[in-house]
Amino acid sequence: MAKKEPVESTVTEEADDGRQPDVISKHRPDQIENVDQKGPHITFTTANGIELHLTVHTPEIIQLKYYLEGDLRSDFSYAVDPEFTPPEPNFILEEQQETFIITTKALVCRVSKKNLLVHFYDTEGNALCQDKAGFYRRESIMKGIREIKITKQHSENIHYFGLGDKVCKDKLKGEAFENWNTDAFEYKRGDDPLYRSVPFYMALNDGQAYGIFLDNTYRSRFDFGKKKKKTTSFSVEGGIMNYYFIYGPELTTVSERYAQLTGTPDMPPMWALGYHQCRWSYYPESRVRELADTFRSKQIPCDALYLDIDYMDGYRCFTWNNDHFPDPKAMIEDLKEQGFETIVMIDPCIKADKDYFVYQQGKENDFFCKRPDGETILAPVWPSTSAFPDFTHPKVRDWWADLYEDHIAAKKVSGIWNDMNEPAVFEVDHKTFPDNIRHDYDGHACSHKKAHNIYGMQMARASYRGIKQHNAEKRPFLLTRANFAGGQRFAALWTGDNIASWDHLKLANEQCQRLSISGYSFVGTDIGGFVDDPTPELFTRWLQLGIFHPLFRNHTMGFNVDGSAAVDEQEIEQKKKRKPTSDQEPWAYGERYTDINRSVIELRYRLLHYLYTTFYDHINKGTPILRPLAYEDQSDARSIHQTDAFMFGPDILVSPVLAKGKKVVKTYFPNGLWYDYRTNEPYVGKHSYNIDAPITDIPFFVKAGTVLPLREVMQYTQERDPKTLDLNIYYGHQPSTSELYEDSEEGYDYAKGYYRYTKFNLYPDEEQDSLQLTADREGSYAPPYREVKINIIGLPFEPEEINVDGEAVLFSRTSEEKGAVYHFHTQPDFETIIIQ
Ligand code: NOJ
Repeated sequence: MAKKEPVESTVTEEADDGRQPDVISKHRPDQIENVDQKGPHITFTTANGIELHLTVHTPEIIQLKYYLEGDLRSDFSYAVDPEFTPPEPNFILEEQQETFIITTKALVCRVSKKNLLVHFYDTEGNALCQDKAGFYRRESIMKGIREIKITKQHSENIHYFGLGDKVCKDKLKGEAFENWNTDAFEYKRGDDPLYRSVPFYMALNDGQAYGIFLDNTYRSRFDFGKKKKKTTSFSVEGGIMNYYFIYGPELTTVSERYAQLTGTPDMPPMWALGYHQCRWSYYPESRVRELADTFRSKQIPCDALYLDIDYMDGYRCFTWNNDHFPDPKAMIEDLKEQGFETIVMIDPCIKADKDYFVYQQGKENDFFCKRPDGETILAPVWPSTSAFPDFTHPKVRDWWADLYEDHIAAKKVSGIWNDMNEPAVFEVDHKTFPDNIRHDYDGHACSHKKAHNIYGMQMARASYRGIKQHNAEKRPFLLTRANFAGGQRFAALWTGDNIASWDHLKLANEQCQRLSISGYSFVGTDIGGFVDDPTPELFTRWLQLGIFHPLFRNHTMGFNVDGSAAVDEQEIEQKKKRKPTSDQEPWAYGERYTDINRSVIELRYRLLHYLYTTFYDHINKGTPILRPLAYEDQSDARSIHQTDAFMFGPDILVSPVLAKGKKVVKTYFPNGLWYDYRTNEPYVGKHSYNIDAPITDIPFFVKAGTVLPLREVMQYTQERDPKTLDLNIYYGHQPSTSELYEDSEEGYDYAKGYYRYTKFNLYPDEEQDSLQLTADREGSYAPPYREVKINIIGLPFEPEEINVDGEAVLFSRTSEEKGAVYHFHTQPDFETIIIQ
């Protein structure tokens, strides 16, 4: 008998026996029949039973959920920060002939009575974001929901940003993407999906920005005008359509509002912003000690060393290979003495070994993920056959957090690295669990189709809790590979297994910018590339870009081929087939490059106060640390199209070298005046310039009007109390402000007011030839340095006198090709400086 095709319920012609292999039904809303308002929640019900639950969270954030009869109403969000509890906003709901209108102080939302289409406008009536086909759902008897989709209009001039770490050919516009966390080893430009899912994008349309956050954990798809030129759509394979419209109108405020909705991390310890050295794998102990000694003897700053999977006993998490590490506690203590924090890997795959305590506990307590028939899913990963904790169960997360006691409380490991948590499964094409694996989902039991994308995030959540619980005084440091929107609350991210190629250097730049504006500011890439060997030039260029990535970590896959840590013969054979990468430490490329690489890392340490302050803003306001130039001037078409140059915090524009042999970078500057950090040469915005970029340099520019703090270079962040803080003042023609946030750089004293937030105000007076700097301070923290050295750059007049709090100070002048720089010393608590 010929195989029958599924029919749609709308098809009237019946098959011979009246039965079909499957029957599909499609749902589109028809006219609104009922409206009901309870506080900020409005429910619209259509004649064909589709409900739109609209919630006004703030004047700029409106949530839309669509339900059909029979849908689960008990759904909850892992992504939204439980601390997102804004005050109920004022708004008006009105009924007109054809629409319902919701007006907040920032937005107007119109819901069409005829077909439930939703359109957003600003308060002046300019269209922001309009439904085209609006809501649509397709399901079948045999397979359940197949697709739930929203289709929106897409104008010619629209630009899209965000969506996490996509590696598209060019821009998001014109392309389509999928979110399904995937172990994307050796990914390349154009590959999709990757390791993590951030179903959040921003659109910039006629100078106005808004964001769409699709809060649904199922596999999701975004099409930015690929299938149909004039439409953008987003869809999911299950659950309910649940999205947030987030208005700007600035791109920055959209990113900030998204971060307020989904949360921001804790303030990192300062050491976590230092240089990190990693490799798969540093072992045995003598190798780790040699590595630490080499950093110190070569005087290359470094704060953290990583132990990849081979520190474990046969890849059993929470154990140590005592042949390679006979006394881990003593080693970690010694490394700490030398100023190194130790970070170790923990995977989700638990070796199915009846003599292994983690497996035993997991089995006894029923903590592992199961198949529909109740059997534990066992699948191959590093330790061969493994079981996987169901991190969506609160008791499993508690257990997992407890497991960290030995690493954190007893052995004093400083940070944890969670890997393979997509979850990755070896040997099968599917690379992960089958869709029918069961999860608790915090009491809302479901299949893997729903839990897949948040599995890694929930692992990170449990690990984060474990780190905090066993060392409550210290700030946690956790790095994760897989994650989901909102997971930035728990962990930093690296972009996974990249390749040592020039295109990957470009991708590193694009991915980190995209992640940063999508809520993840604490991001970085495997500097130098994970797969293959970089040339010395590529390594240095990557290190130079890395100093502007919040996570500054060198990593490579140079696994050990001797097989001493492998679990079986097959693995040894597999490893032998691959060429391990060569040494990738900063001194691995000869003396000349060692010197260059040292000075690159030193530059990062100079910039740490600035980076720390941008973190403070990120944590408190959600401001992204890395931003495309469009964020600097979204009304400027040329800024919008730049992808290479980017903003590092509010005041630094970075123009990285991303191509082989390149010694000049064409750089477009957005509006304003910008000073080259190296030469102090000023550049006028809205123009492009060819900037010299020899291999020794990464060009970066400081915005006029900035007071840039520069820290003393040390071999590690807490090496000693600094004596001096440099403050570079870059003259600007307009009044301006800059910030400096300081605290004890570890622990939680800052929450009790033991911090110092300084707002610097610069007032240039061009008629009187004077410049005034005032410092407004908050908090009780007293920084350790005794003096501040002020360097004034770009001053358009020759000062006769410099006064600090009413007293004249001695100053010196250095002549540079591009103008004089004035220097003087003062004490850290100065209030007013007048230069005239
Ligand atoms: C895959 C990770 O992406 C990589 O960084 C790590 O070195 C290997 N797993 C081995 O643990």
